Amino acid sequence: MRDGEVDAPIGECARPQQSETDGIGRQYFDRPGLTQQSIAKGRRLPGAFLLCCNGVMMGKLLLVTFALFGAVSAIACAFGAAVYYGGYIDISADTPHEAIVFDFIEEARERAIARQVRDITPPTDLSDPERLDRGAGNYQAMCANCHLSPGISNSEIRQGLYPTPPDLTKRLGKREPSSAESARWFWVIKHGIKASAMPAWSKGGMEASAIWDLTAFLARLPALSPEQYQSIVAASDGHAHSGLVEMGHDAPSAPGHVDKPGSKPHSH
Ligand code: HEC
Repeated sequence: MRDGEVDAPIGECARPQQSETDGIGRQYFDRPGLTQQSIAKGRRLPGAFLLCCNGVMMGKLLLVTFALFGAVSAIACAFGAAVYYGGYIDISADTPHEAIVFDFIEEARERAIARQVRDITPPTDLSDPERLDRGAGNYQAMCANCHLSPGISNSEIRQGLYPTPPDLTKRLGKREPSSAESARWFWVIKHGIKASAMPAWSKGGMEASAIWDLTAFLARLPALSPEQYQSIVAASDGHAHSGLVEMGHDAPSAPGHVDKPGSKPHSH
């Protein structure tokens, strides 16, 4: 072994010995490409780096890694652009997302809603029978076609929607909703859910009290038999809230707009 060299097992780092004159291990000077200046610079780098690695080799390695990373990113971007601009993204409602994409969107939706509803406190009178009556009429007119009603297990529009609107007659089972669940429903009815068929009902003019009526009714819905549902809807004022006046809203029913359960909507 030459003077100043370090006897270290292969594969392990050689720790430099201190020279009496310059304080830097002599074996560093024996390596090609290293000047005293670069070593002095290197000494300002973190200790672990200096102990284990030849700075020049490390630099080359980093360069190659960055170049590889850049090349892979460029290929991925080119592929993404070809899929996007070539019109290859399948936006049809009759082809489901890949499971991983669906889970990703669902997680994002739940996290976003949970964040938005933090400051919403439900009113204390959600079990008031008048709220339930008002909610029943509006539910039948505006929601049942997508979210079903007792005794109705599917609808034409619901089958074609993606994501499929949840069956709100079964959402809760027999239990009472927590106040967080009521706040969540209020928020969803008010703001809707982007790129799904769930409308933001507040945009059409539905006021907060009518949204709470619907929220109250949703808590009651799973416990109703078809007969109870029909009688509570029949006893309500039907479709009544202060939304926009339009065809099928505060006006005689438009063709295909069913305000009472059981009537025949259309035929084809
Ligand atoms: C045109 C179909 C459609 C109509 C009409 C509709 N919804 Fe929805 N609704 C949806 C869809 C689709 C979702 C699911 C969205 C998603 O998962 O991203 C949804 C989700 C919801 C949810 C969230 C349920 C949960 O627990 O996750 C509530 C609550 C809700 N709707 C209430 C209503 C009420 C009340 C009405 C009537 C005022 C209504 N919806 C009308 C399509 C509709």
